Amino acid sequence: MRNDNAPLIRLEDYRPTDYLIDTVDLTIKLHPTATTVISRLALRPNPEGQAGASLALDGDELNFASISLNGTQLAANAYTASPQQLVLHHPPQEAFTLSIETSINPTANTKLMGLYRSSGTYCTQCEADGFRRITYFLDRPDVLSVYTTRIEADVDTPLLLGNGNLRETGALDSGRHFAVWDDPFPKPCYLFAIVGGDLDKVEDIFTTVSGRKVTVAVYVERGKRERAWYALDSLQRSMHWDETVFGREYDLDVFNVVAVSDFNMGAMENKGLNVFNDKYVLASEDTATDGDYANIEAVIAHEYFHNWTGNRITCRDWFQLCLKEGLTVFRDQEFSSDERSRPVKRISDVRTLRSAQFPEDGGPLAHPVRPRAYKEINNFYTATVYEKGAELIRVLKILIGPDNFRRGMDLYFDRYDGTAATIEQFIASFAEASGSDLAAFSQWYEQAGTPRVTARGVYDAAAKTYCLTLSQTTAPTPGQAEKQPMVIPVALGLIGESGRELALETADNTVENGVLILDTPERSVTFTNVTERPVPSLLRGFSAPVTLDIDLSDDDLLVLFAHDTDAFNQWQAAQTIASRIIIRAVEQVRAGKPAEVPAKLAEALDRFLDAHAQRDPAFAAQVLSLPGEADIAREIGENIDPDAIHAARKAVRQSLGRALADKLAELYASLTINAPFSPDATQAGQRALRNAVLDLLTTGDAFRGEALARAQFDAANNMTERLGALATLAHVPGEARETALAAFAERYKDDPLVLDKWFALQASIPETSTLERVKGLLNHPAFSLSNPNRTRALIGSFAMANATQFARADGAGFAFLADMIISLDSTNPQVASRLSTAFRTWKTLEPTRRAQAEAALRRIAAKSPLSPDVADIVNRSLA
Ligand code: TRP
Ligand code: ZN
Repeated sequence: MRNDNAPLIRLEDYRPTDYLIDTVDLTIKLHPTATTVISRLALRPNPEGQAGASLALDGDELNFASISLNGTQLAANAYTASPQQLVLHHPPQEAFTLSIETSINPTANTKLMGLYRSSGTYCTQCEADGFRRITYFLDRPDVLSVYTTRIEADVDTPLLLGNGNLRETGALDSGRHFAVWDDPFPKPCYLFAIVGGDLDKVEDIFTTVSGRKVTVAVYVERGKRERAWYALDSLQRSMHWDETVFGREYDLDVFNVVAVSDFNMGAMENKGLNVFNDKYVLASEDTATDGDYANIEAVIAHEYFHNWTGNRITCRDWFQLCLKEGLTVFRDQEFSSDERSRPVKRISDVRTLRSAQFPEDGGPLAHPVRPRAYKEINNFYTATVYEKGAELIRVLKILIGPDNFRRGMDLYFDRYDGTAATIEQFIASFAEASGSDLAAFSQWYEQAGTPRVTARGVYDAAAKTYCLTLSQTTAPTPGQAEKQPMVIPVALGLIGESGRELALETADNTVENGVLILDTPERSVTFTNVTERPVPSLLRGFSAPVTLDIDLSDDDLLVLFAHDTDAFNQWQAAQTIASRIIIRAVEQVRAGKPAEVPAKLAEALDRFLDAHAQRDPAFAAQVLSLPGEADIAREIGENIDPDAIHAARKAVRQSLGRALADKLAELYASLTINAPFSPDATQAGQRALRNAVLDLLTTGDAFRGEALARAQFDAANNMTERLGALATLAHVPGEARETALAAFAERYKDDPLVLDKWFALQASIPETSTLERVKGLLNHPAFSLSNPNRTRALIGSFAMANATQFARADGAGFAFLADMIISLDSTNPQVASRLSTAFRTWKTLEPTRRAQAEAALRRIAAKSPLSPDVADIVNRSLA
């Protein structure tokens, strides 16, 4: 295939480097278009490498200036330099130093990898392979070095930050100054960072558990200082939590967070100098939703937690990415669970897993949590590596128990601190600490695809036995035709028809702590002394990342919804009933019949709201928000017609909204908060339910709902209520919507992060006119294709959050995305490549749309030149 010439990198080909770099001494002379980088490297042959080998340093778009060896300029025939490589033909076979000078242009750097400028601030992004865009280096994570960084800049760039501790600052001639930073902890180059700018900050002193004082600071654009407090507070809570729950203390004198407005991903854990997408830092009640606050808390925690899981112990190679990412996501999820509501956090994490990871695992881009081969590593920062990787840690913890889990973590930190480790070493720490054989568990890291667990139960009333049979299968994925059985912990309970939780008795105690291990293709267990017909509650707390097929009747599900003591499964029962009802409605819609909606869901929701709405509004909000269109599409699996799914889901919501109208209106009125704004979980839960109620009510009665939504929009004193009202209005065509959208745009015209919400809302309107609206917004003064947040808000939302319009039958939605990808490919291939993953479920569409999607993919594939990033995604999608 054309554009498919990037080499395949394989895990099995790993070998250590031939040289090691013990220290790195950098001098970076910042200049907008001609920054000079002088790098002094102390090298020596690696005893584990090949003696006498040449030394090939990686580069990417570098301008080579000079090289000297042990202080002497090298003869031209001693090396070969190009923008992408610097080769020293005959390196000395004892310790030596190289001094290399290069120059780079940060202003021209539109890829946002390496050193670039964002709104005038100099910043860097080196993971995964951006350091080679700053200077020639062995750009791989198993080369650990101690760095010192001297940064020089004009005095109009007063703030100069680096990794580690500040050693020295001073003035230079001709209006320039400098700062020198020392990082005593050996690190891979992907954790290198500098920042240069003129920023505001908030700061505090954090006292660690052993009494050391750490200056913690969050830097933001001038004028946005008041929006940085929540991030600073989240940071200190994270630091405290890691000491308490994992016994991990911070290790430098300073911890800096810098928010920048142009950033390819969420944030980056550079040692002592985290760089953040400003969307995950800036918050005020007027500009951030409760969801934004929760995301900020989670991302701040995530990057901080990397200091131990990622930085102190890093990855041997990029195949081990889940070693730091899956584990760190698990840690940030646990942190948020402890800070907020554990069941609600679990539900929202599972929603993310199902909507982001399950489609990946079930489509052409499926790959194991630890991939075996890649062409472009930046395409493997996926939901599988992050989210499924976190689920595997949870599975491990369930398998060995919390105490053994903590012992295993301690052993891992103890043994591998200061090294670049592997998944094998990580798992071995837990095997040793718990005395269990984890060989079968480790299969989870190797095998792609979501296992499907089927459960069938038989109750014998006379014998008082209940026999439950579980079986598992995993469908083939690209490159893995044959699948092995996995070790699946199934947390379970039995609920009697009366609503009682029944004791779990088995003849041989096969169910320990309420968990049955399914590690064979099939397994049966017989429960004894079962005094009434039980309804099984399986996979409690979502104990493994699988799909569950269980032959419960609607009435059985209603028993779980009403009585399950496991909150996750209570929610799941409601989701399953709703999903079944919507799927039946899809069939009716496709047969040209009106959708019939049975009354029992509304009745059950009515009872549920009476019992839970006031006690746990956040949980009630999760129950009220029915499975999304993508959930339904995944459940149906093939020959997807997004319009039919949309119509069916809307019909079901309409019917619920009408049946529950009075209850919803009453609830809506009762959920007013009469206290000053706080982003805490209690208030956030009330607002979440109020918005969910408003939306359902409006779907049932647009006239009544629109009036309430307009009133809420006008009266709101915080972004959650304002945006919630606007989102509801956005789905009702007409004057009110356009007026509210215009008012919102006017109010926030100088606030790009808030306008992103406005772009995203409009891009997700499920109406035929939306594509034209989106195309028009490309010319809005606040929009810019060079800013990843703007691009994701407008184009990303259209492609990922608007199934009916992206997958228009006439192909115009696909063609539009293809145009955008083709145009972005030349300037920012990482963002282009992320957008192209929107095609990942194209093969499940009905034939007309499938053909349109394929044509769009082929048009992208034909672009020449095409970045390796986009080529990789598009070619795998087409394969
Ligand atoms: N390591 C970062 C995190 O998970 C994410 C990251 C990887 C990243 N590659 C990146 C961020 C490129 C920005 C750009 O926290
Ligand atoms: Zn991470």
